[in-house]
Amino acid sequence: MTQHHPDRTTGEPAHWWRDAVVYQVYVRSFADSDGDGIGDLPGITSRLPYLRDLGVDALWLTPFYTSPQHDHGYDVADYRDVDPLFGTLADADELVARTHELGLRLIVDVVPNHTSNEHAWFRAALEAGPGSPERARYLFRDGRGADGSEPPNNWQSVFGGPAWTRVEDGPGEAGQWYLHLFDSTQPDLDWRNPEVGDLFEDVLRFWLERGVDGFRVDVAHGLLKEEGLRDQVRGDEAGDAPHAMVERVVQDEPMWDQPEVHEVYRRWHKVLADYPGDRMSVAEAWTRGTPGALARYVRDDEMSQAFNFAWLLAPWSAGAFAEVITTTFASLEDVDAIPTWVLSNHDVVRHTTRYGGGPQGLARARAATLTMLALPGASYLYQGEELGLEQVDVEPAFRQDPSWFRTGEPGRDGCRVPIPWSGSEAPFGFGPGTDQPWIPQPATWSPLSVAAQTRTAGSTLELYRSALATRRTFAHTAGDHVEMLDLGEDVLAFHRGPLTVALNCGTAPVPVPAGEVIASSGDLPGGVLPPDTAVWLR
Ligand code: NOJ
Repeated sequence: MTQHHPDRTTGEPAHWWRDAVVYQVYVRSFADSDGDGIGDLPGITSRLPYLRDLGVDALWLTPFYTSPQHDHGYDVADYRDVDPLFGTLADADELVARTHELGLRLIVDVVPNHTSNEHAWFRAALEAGPGSPERARYLFRDGRGADGSEPPNNWQSVFGGPAWTRVEDGPGEAGQWYLHLFDSTQPDLDWRNPEVGDLFEDVLRFWLERGVDGFRVDVAHGLLKEEGLRDQVRGDEAGDAPHAMVERVVQDEPMWDQPEVHEVYRRWHKVLADYPGDRMSVAEAWTRGTPGALARYVRDDEMSQAFNFAWLLAPWSAGAFAEVITTTFASLEDVDAIPTWVLSNHDVVRHTTRYGGGPQGLARARAATLTMLALPGASYLYQGEELGLEQVDVEPAFRQDPSWFRTGEPGRDGCRVPIPWSGSEAPFGFGPGTDQPWIPQPATWSPLSVAAQTRTAGSTLELYRSALATRRTFAHTAGDHVEMLDLGEDVLAFHRGPLTVALNCGTAPVPVPAGEVIASSGDLPGGVLPPDTAVWLR
């Protein structure tokens, strides 16, 4: 069976995830039920009607498993339990059940590249010492130099600084080093060890049996490292090599996107197929190299989808956006997969702010979102973007991102501030308490709360609600073919079946294309499409 297009080839119903709008819930910051200032699972359950009414198809929850929270749950100490901070397994079951009752689907995060340093396996590895089977589940190596005091290779952590930390092997005895592509509290597993694959098959089955509809796979391109763990050749070592050579050298990445990683996803594909109800997977794979690199993750016998970060990385430009769209479709042609689209998530600066902030940043963000939502494939939304929230400049005392501690750069806390639901002061209905939540909310958020924007003409929340409702009228029938239109260099425009979409990225108004307007991201005074505005027509 072709995985991706059963509707077109066999008349079977389409996969639910094919055109889904998936709403990303950052668990710490969505809704707090117990007043401790941190979001939790019962909080999410209580807010599910909001998501149903918003018109999304599914939720993706960031990790809520047992964790010391050094990377807010992306450091998992027990993959089969809920951290007490967020609730219990019974709360997770209740959330799954309620989600399904409301006709929504639930995707959970799986973090297979690394565990927490508090995972039982890592504790045992430290205890057992060099050469033990316990150490062989991770990437422990002897250091370089006469006394082993140099890291085993030159790899850098994504969060800054060396990707290796040295442990003690015996009291006060400097010992081996372990690899961590992220924080030192996130030791990388050795996926060449079959025990690791078996652990994760069990983890997937554990959550599939509890009824989850899919998995978002963290750092999907990182699991396997090039055998031998050689040094990375860096751009600055390429000297005065010709340009093409520098490009190749800059992209020398023995830690990412190794061919063997695909065996993992072939196995997972079979695991998911053992369960009824069209379970899915979506890869977080920041592949570079050729556009085809990402497509390899969504071959017929691997994952269902992969995040396509191209638009999120593109500048505000009709030409750049057009290039993203055409390259995306071209790269997926050979594997017959459908694309995904995303403008914001918990790792990047919110798109209102990326597009300049203030009224113009908001207008652009609304226009880009409306344009994205017209495209075939799945769209991923990040909590708070439907309120037009901006990135918050979090005071240093409140920053918690491990990359802040490792580099002194502001990090990602600014897009993780708890959601304003109602009221005129913090915590804006986020929880029952009266104090600020774990990251303080700006006082200026009062008019942006869900309550303030509900039924308010022209609000960003009402734009999302109406756009999602209108999208439902064509998502399954408008087809997958996108034809780019030439309406001048400042306008991104395309046809998708009966739909015409135009986004004005320039500084002057342009004529609205022919047709009946069915949605627009802002006013269309006198029949023109103003700058920073998008329109759908039929
Ligand atoms: C990607 C996640 O989205 C990010 O939040 C996390 O810090 C890293 N993976 C490490 O797990």
